[in-house]
Amino acid sequence: MRFPDGFGWGAATSAYQIEGAAKEDGRGESVWDTFSHTPGRIRNGDTGDVAADHYHRYAQDLDLMRDLGLRSYRFSISWPRIQADGSGRPNQRGLDFYRRLVDGLHERDIAPMATLFHWDLPQALQDAGGWENRDTAERFAEYADAVFHALGDQVPVWLTVNEPKTVVQNGYIFGHHAPGFRDEDAAYLVAHHLQLAHGLAVRALRASGLTGRIGPALNLHPCYPADDSAEAAAATKLHDGYENRLYLDSIFKGAYPQDVLDDRGPDSRLVRGVRDGDLKIISSPVDLLAVQYYTPIYVTGDGSTVRKWPTSEAEWQQIYPEGMYDILTRVTRDYGRVPITITENGLPCPDVPGADGNVDDAGRVSFLRDHFAAAHRAIGDGVPLESYHVWSLLDNFEWAEGYEQRWGLVYVDYASQRRVLKRSAHWYRDVIRRNGL
Ligand code: FCB
Repeated sequence: MRFPDGFGWGAATSAYQIEGAAKEDGRGESVWDTFSHTPGRIRNGDTGDVAADHYHRYAQDLDLMRDLGLRSYRFSISWPRIQADGSGRPNQRGLDFYRRLVDGLHERDIAPMATLFHWDLPQALQDAGGWENRDTAERFAEYADAVFHALGDQVPVWLTVNEPKTVVQNGYIFGHHAPGFRDEDAAYLVAHHLQLAHGLAVRALRASGLTGRIGPALNLHPCYPADDSAEAAAATKLHDGYENRLYLDSIFKGAYPQDVLDDRGPDSRLVRGVRDGDLKIISSPVDLLAVQYYTPIYVTGDGSTVRKWPTSEAEWQQIYPEGMYDILTRVTRDYGRVPITITENGLPCPDVPGADGNVDDAGRVSFLRDHFAAAHRAIGDGVPLESYHVWSLLDNFEWAEGYEQRWGLVYVDYASQRRVLKRSAHWYRDVIRRNGL
């Protein structure tokens, strides 16, 4: 099973999950600092204060990436390192860190792919209303502009907002992610402002005169009816609107899906919050779509969800490689042949080093093999997939789960910060070398 020549085999991380160095070089506080330091929010009271200490160990981590043979590395830039309070003159020391990282990638022939926002909103902006405040989208565009000017000559691909849906659902509906609210009406206004932020950043890149490519990073969940009833079919369609079309249609078709707008109602903050011209901004042409696939969703007639497949250690994740094929082919069918990169796909495993020091994560190997095969089949059926980033390069701070779930190709012993390549890492290196399975 060979992949197209030059296929971008990669791995992904995000700033708060790996960097640590929470108070260094002028970094301000983010909503995740506040949230993780609030008792009861994170499993075992873990925080990202130290994480995988990547801020200090980035050179060693770059060498690991080279040893794996990665061709692409998808990371995120921490907004509060660049603007401690979320506005104003950028912090040179923060920019310098990412400059060193990006230069180090090029020295090792690895293409940088930078996400501008992976959830670490400066706390000062949260205090001013966060993503409920339309102004935050404008602040984001200014921050993006500063980053483009500092790093744009060396970053070929930019991603705007990582998984807006997760901020909406986990941050504002279920409340188990920062900022920890439970307000569905606010949540969908937040969705709109995140989409607006995306569009404004796309425009900022175009206005900068730089040549980099840019797109959104969406976690897409293929939705299937749980049974054959007409009710389940209808409920699945609406569920798909909330999970997928809310984000895809606004970016690629310039309109929010009517079924979702109707379901929210004319008095909702979403419907009232959309101003003339917003959808034109949101649908500013992008160069690529980043897809993050983890799980399918099965919907019953009353709109609730059920599980059909075994789950991983993450109870929200059902293991269903076919869903990767379905979502990739569906996006190409419904939204045209925009180039696609997979920016996240992976599995948490209860990894522990054995007596010989090796980490034998056989489950991750078969998970990745099956998902790579599904992606390969999608390419064969016409999906313009250009790269694939495994989540994650390193074990890291898995948000509300703290350090308990391990998602890395590389094991991190947090006490010593020693890195150990897991069996999956060795296997992945061979996949990359052969450019296939
Ligand atoms: C995604 C996030 C990423 C990581 C994986 C497991 O939703 O973007 O940071 O937590 O899930």
